Amino acid sequence: MPPAITIKNLTKIYEPRKGAEKVALDDVSLEIPKGSFFGLLGPNGAGKSTLINIIAGLVNKTSGKVEVCGIDIDKDLRKAKYHLGVVPQELILDPFFTVREALEFHAGYYGIPKSQRKTDEIIKALSLEDKKHTSSRRLSGGMRRRLLIGKALVHNPEVLILDEPTAGVDIELRQSLWEYAKKLNKQGTTIVLTTHYLEEAEQLCDEIAIINHGKIVAHDKKKTLLKKLNNKRIVIHTQKNPEKVPPSLKSYNPVMPDDNTVEIRYNPEEIEICDILKDIHDSGLKITDLVTQDTKLEDIFLQLTKAA
Ligand SMILES: Nc1ncnc2c1ncn2[C@@H]1O[C@H](COP(=O)(O)OP(=O)(O)OP(=O)(O)O)[C@@H](O)[C@H]1O
Ligand SMILES: [Mg+2]
Repeated sequence: MPPAITIKNLTKIYEPRKGAEKVALDDVSLEIPKGSFFGLLGPNGAGKSTLINIIAGLVNKTSGKVEVCGIDIDKDLRKAKYHLGVVPQELILDPFFTVREALEFHAGYYGIPKSQRKTDEIIKALSLEDKKHTSSRRLSGGMRRRLLIGKALVHNPEVLILDEPTAGVDIELRQSLWEYAKKLNKQGTTIVLTTHYLEEAEQLCDEIAIINHGKIVAHDKKKTLLKKLNNKRIVIHTQKNPEKVPPSLKSYNPVMPDDNTVEIRYNPEEIEICDILKDIHDSGLKITDLVTQDTKLEDIFLQLTKAA
């Protein structure tokens, strides 16, 4: 079974209007396994949308190869697109259709027979029931995004690609959207998403790639990626804000963000937690609470993207 997406040596150079040309993707190779919930993360301008829009046939690549479910987009873009549902970052909609009409029309475009359409299921999953007869131009930004997501789903694609799907979407919908995405993923749909909400990626994705300046700087199963840094933290909540680092804790280089907390990061393979607890006890701090936390995706993300 071929992977959901195969990318080989993909480069994209945007030709300059004025000034220098922009290398948005620099020799990127990536495989997205079938059935995965895949997160593509990176700072603004890293190349995420460029990558997604090339897969979707919306942007021409400069060089390299892209396959969707084993179909080379250069050989049969139409067939490749049939396997794909893409929600682009830009909100582009035909303003004259109502929500329901837009979904029905789109399903028709893909040749889905009326009896097999999921229009009402999609409307319900995206909480658009009370807007289904409203024309697109009267929808709020968040609702337009929901409709775009709906449009990407009408033909039951094997691979669903979401570029910043929750930008501008309220918390309630964000949650119901993820429930629906998880359900689709359980049924076998591969989900690829870009998001700036790292917690979202951490919760949802089983595999993650981090892109920076057009290059993949990390790609692994989420668990492996999180293990790589292998650092944990202890957050000590104190009664008063400590004025300076207590001598017994100096060697840990703690972070003191000025909000009655002291944060110690440590590598559990190198340091025993008992030793740290003893040093915390010896510090004389008046402790009100103490929490340990595992490495966050955010730490890895910042480490990999801030220096460059
Ligand atoms: N049409 C274009 N013409 C020229 N340069 C472009 C064009 N589209 C994107 N770029 C540039 O290519 C780089 C990658 O942009 P891209 O939109 O892929 O980033 P992104 O990772 O999606 O960022 P964001 O998180 O802000 O959505 C940026 O430097 C951007 O300015
Ligand atoms: Mg983008």
